[in-house]
Amino acid sequence: MRPEVGVVLGSGFRAVEQGIEAEAVLPYDRIPGFCQTGVVGHAGRLSLGRLGGVPTLLLAGRAHFYEGYSLERVTFPVRVAAELGVRVLLLTNAAGGINQRYRPGHFMILRDHINLMGLNPLCGCADSRSPFVDLTEAYDPELRRRLRTAARQAGAPIHAGVYLAVAGPSYETPAEIRAFARLGADAVGMSTVPETIVARHCGLRVAGLSAITNLAAGRSPTPISHEEVLVAGRATGELAGRIIAGFVRRCVPSDR
Ligand code: HPA
Repeated sequence: MRPEVGVVLGSGFRAVEQGIEAEAVLPYDRIPGFCQTGVVGHAGRLSLGRLGGVPTLLLAGRAHFYEGYSLERVTFPVRVAAELGVRVLLLTNAAGGINQRYRPGHFMILRDHINLMGLNPLCGCADSRSPFVDLTEAYDPELRRRLRTAARQAGAPIHAGVYLAVAGPSYETPAEIRAFARLGADAVGMSTVPETIVARHCGLRVAGLSAITNLAAGRSPTPISHEEVLVAGRATGELAGRIIAGFVRRCVPSDR
């Protein structure tokens, strides 16, 4: 089977794994070059199979920069997906809501991103392709429309906004969140942006979807905890599954 769509499942999206008719499943520790991910809620597994009838590569779990891996290693699975034939890549994540209209349980389609990780995964990239990648429409407008349609049909509360990436692993301060809001960010998280950059470097069409698992620091009266993020992620799992299956089904042969 040659996968045409790739989906990276972040925390909050793991339930999607149950929806794939898998032909092959491989734990990341059996794949050379893949990182072991030690974070709770992120155990790594690659599945190859049909999702909504479409040959799909599912990457359940990802390595993060905050675990101590280089961005080159964090983004390696994206390069593998491209080599396997994937043309459309959907990146999912859990994020904190900065936009005052966002609530836990809502979803956000990435319209654009702001990279405040302090690093770029193409630094030092020894590839024949130019590292000067255009990111004007990093998140493909047509794929964004398909995500929106899929979310609406699933009955999910959906926004479109700007995702700001930080290195983590500590959560932000309220002052940082106020600053990020002024910069134009709608949600904050610790992943996805390096994968988007590498996917564009490989010529893939990229879509991004955040599950808003908590209000960002200073927006909520209670402290943020990883447990809260995981619980909210599990609660939205079924809805997330329907959005993603709907999205993949809309990826017709002509654009793969
Ligand atoms: N900040 C950063 N990353 C996150 C958050 C947050 O509030 N929630 C989920 N991932």
